[in-house]
Amino acid sequence: MKILNFGSLNIDYVYEVEHFARKGETISSSNLRVSSGGKGLNQSIALSRAGVPVCHAGIIGMDGIFLKEILEEAGVDTKYLAVSDQIRTGNAIIQNDRYGDNCIILYGGANQTITREYIDQILDNFSENDWLLLQNEINELPYIVESAHKKGMHIVLNPSPMDDKIFDINLNHIHCFILNEMEAQNLVNYKENDMEVLKKVQETFPHAEIVLTLGEKGAVYQGKKGCISQEKYAATVVDTTAAGDTFTGYYLSGILKGLDVKQAMQTAAKAAAIAVSRKGAAVSIPEMEEVTGKRNE
Ligand code: RIB
Repeated sequence: MKILNFGSLNIDYVYEVEHFARKGETISSSNLRVSSGGKGLNQSIALSRAGVPVCHAGIIGMDGIFLKEILEEAGVDTKYLAVSDQIRTGNAIIQNDRYGDNCIILYGGANQTITREYIDQILDNFSENDWLLLQNEINELPYIVESAHKKGMHIVLNPSPMDDKIFDINLNHIHCFILNEMEAQNLVNYKENDMEVLKKVQETFPHAEIVLTLGEKGAVYQGKKGCISQEKYAATVVDTTAAGDTFTGYYLSGILKGLDVKQAMQTAAKAAAIAVSRKGAAVSIPEMEEVTGKRNE
């Protein structure tokens, strides 16, 4: 069984600010950090740090070679990663405020230049019962999902950042959705309380497993194993960037290692609590030893 994450790689420009810039306002930033990110890259690093071998496919420009090196240092297999000399790497402008919250502007760059020819080449290396992890920061997702489905791969979708392009995908081919409250609401066009929305997602996609992350309120799983809740672990919040990616990578790693859903969610919640206590995206994702050492404070 092989695991492929077909996803984005970004250069993150993180500006520390008192508050997010408002309409017409110019604000100063007290610090600028340039580091590795992208929901795809972050989730591959989380999977690998959780001890699961993962191949990452995606495209970077020449300016993003350091992202490849960072993936490799984390133990991710990068043999399918493509480097373009025609276009710059995707990037994210991130404002990080004094409460640790963020708001993000994305520039897709190379992440939006995925071709069908490249997808076919990559997927030729995978077959029935292999796993595919996807987020919503690259183009050609409908084609990737269709092709992977034909091969009989298990498909996990984190529809983040959520936008209308998600509805171009045949969502009935998704085996597992990992998503937050807003993404779930938008997915089923239903603005209700969390449990009602979860029920609606399950009714809409009855064959899928759903993991709903709820920030302060933890997470809930709904699927073949019933309804299982997980509280969040206490943490001093410094920066929430990549907390969701950490949860996704760790949850999936738990399932792939044969943990039950409760154990997988518990490990994922612990890992996410560590990630929010540190600055940055990929750099904030813990190693498994740190996670297993963490108790509920
Ligand atoms: O989920 C966090 C990530 O979102 C950042 O690393 C940024 O690149 C954006 O993709």
